[in-house]
Amino acid sequence: MTRLDKLLADAGAGSRSQVKEYIRRGRITVNGQICKKPEQKVQEEKDLICLDGQRVEYARYRYYMLHKPRGVITATEDSRDKTVLDLLGGVDTAHIFPVGRLDKDTEGLLLLTNDGELAHRLLSPRRHVDKCYLVRTEKPLSEADLRALETGVDIGDDKPALPAKAQLNETGDLLLTIQEGRYHQVKRMLQAVDNRVLYLKRLSFGSLELPEDLRPGEFRPLTDEEQERLRNDVKG
Ligand code: URA
Repeated sequence: MTRLDKLLADAGAGSRSQVKEYIRRGRITVNGQICKKPEQKVQEEKDLICLDGQRVEYARYRYYMLHKPRGVITATEDSRDKTVLDLLGGVDTAHIFPVGRLDKDTEGLLLLTNDGELAHRLLSPRRHVDKCYLVRTEKPLSEADLRALETGVDIGDDKPALPAKAQLNETGDLLLTIQEGRYHQVKRMLQAVDNRVLYLKRLSFGSLELPEDLRPGEFRPLTDEEQERLRNDVKG
């Protein structure tokens, strides 16, 4: 059982305060009866909930993109540090988890969902989902370093890193696209070419790109189109 206002907000009918207002104004019915109590317990599978006579479709799966700031850890709970779930203000975070992991000092695009099946596919090494990072390095990278990253460097595991795409942008930062997600992978790849990461930001994950207007610490639900494109990234 869930509170009516929470269910409506989670279903995308409006923000928590907007849906409370709808309820107060008598625009919401539960099984045909106007309900003016935001705290009313309802069951999404059983109760027919309408806004202005239109059925509110409750999505079983929810997807959010977060611009993870530095200093926050990619976990669902922690006794000391703020976690990425703490940043999803107003969202019912039960069963929501981050898809993959960004280090505490990494910022950028992080997907969060309760869709375990899609998350599993996106993270599967067999699927080769691209992740693009902006990397600021301690020392300038040479052409030979870029070629080494593109060939596949030894990062101390059984197998070398898969070939990556490596190019410098106009400010000399590295744009590195990898298809794996091994522990500290980008940092270890840069170590392998005798360098060090000073700043790391994830710009994209599969077809999802970090929007320029999403500031560090901000999040938003994925659009239907973004969800569809992500499913296409791992189809088959
Ligand atoms: N590679 C890293 O080394 N750290 C991250 O956070 C992501 C990729």
